[in-house]
Amino acid sequence: MRFFDPSNVFIEHDCVKAHKKELAAMGKKAFIITGRHSAKTNGSQDDVTDVLTEAGIPYIIFDEVEENPSVETVAKASAIGKEAGVDFVIGIGGGSPLDAGKAIALLVANPQETEECLYTRKNLKALPYAAVPTTCGTGAEVTPNAVLTRHALKTKGSISYQIFPDLALVDGKYIASISRKLLVNTAVDALAHLVESRLHSKGNILNYMFSEYGLKLWSDLIPYLKGEKETDSEARQFFMLTSTVAGLAIAQTGTSLPHAMSYFITYRYQVPHGHACGIFLAAYMKEYAKNRPADVETVLSLLGFESADSFAVFLKDLLEPVSISSEELVLFTDDLMKNAGKLATYPFAISKEAVSEILTSSLLIE
Ligand SMILES: [Fe+2]
Repeated sequence: MRFFDPSNVFIEHDCVKAHKKELAAMGKKAFIITGRHSAKTNGSQDDVTDVLTEAGIPYIIFDEVEENPSVETVAKASAIGKEAGVDFVIGIGGGSPLDAGKAIALLVANPQETEECLYTRKNLKALPYAAVPTTCGTGAEVTPNAVLTRHALKTKGSISYQIFPDLALVDGKYIASISRKLLVNTAVDALAHLVESRLHSKGNILNYMFSEYGLKLWSDLIPYLKGEKETDSEARQFFMLTSTVAGLAIAQTGTSLPHAMSYFITYRYQVPHGHACGIFLAAYMKEYAKNRPADVETVLSLLGFESADSFAVFLKDLLEPVSISSEELVLFTDDLMKNAGKLATYPFAISKEAVSEILTSSLLIE
């Protein structure tokens, strides 16, 4: 049994400014990686650049990271970082910039390599990396994975290197301005991390501490997601805390079948990541319960649901349905059955019929 997470994590109000010493100690020239808009409007980019300016640390900014960032974008940013001679990287944003930042930190640290190295297994180390999340779902500030879009393969996949951020600065104030839809989608991503980590072939007592406590925390978010309560500063801090706890859980186990299923839906139909994972959760739990019902009962009771059916109804109310054609369903099922690595994350043998059942009961088939 093993637990490993080397990220130095701080979760508090005004976190970036409170930990300017830790941030400024990371290097001599910073490379800020972010998306086009949100970091500029939610105050996170200003907080980071204020700290760097005060510490006399020069920086450059790459703000072209798109949703579901591609290997091509990572390569473009890395060329800029290499040219500028940066020696540490700061990712600001949701999962896309944070994941892209990890891959960029690896490529800039190894100027002899091209992006081809991302999916090989060499002995490469990344530049020091700090992560400032501005959505409440990814957990990427404490996980070693970096999921990129691989257009050549028409899917998404994590790079082959484990890159834990050295520093995670987590502050709920950055989600004050996100839309309700983004709040829901990212919180459901955190939910998927908790459920998939708890129902995973690598689950053990050390990581159950995070998945189970995270599920309990997540249950307190439900009234906000249903619109029964207004989020305030304290609630926003809990959304972020829950997301980081869920990240600590998947940092140990990885995700499982709902995430594997989501990649296809996101690539083909641009369904946002959390939404795409969430639609498969209830059917996944029902399938799992055929083998080990007590685990599913634990998950449901921590979340405050009486049955998998009531959990399914809750998610259906929260997430719009996704439809695919019957031809694509066949393709999708075949693809998944070929993904031996991902199937191994499920603790039991699973048949093609069972995979197809999860997909058909989660999607609208046209
Ligand atoms: Fe996720």
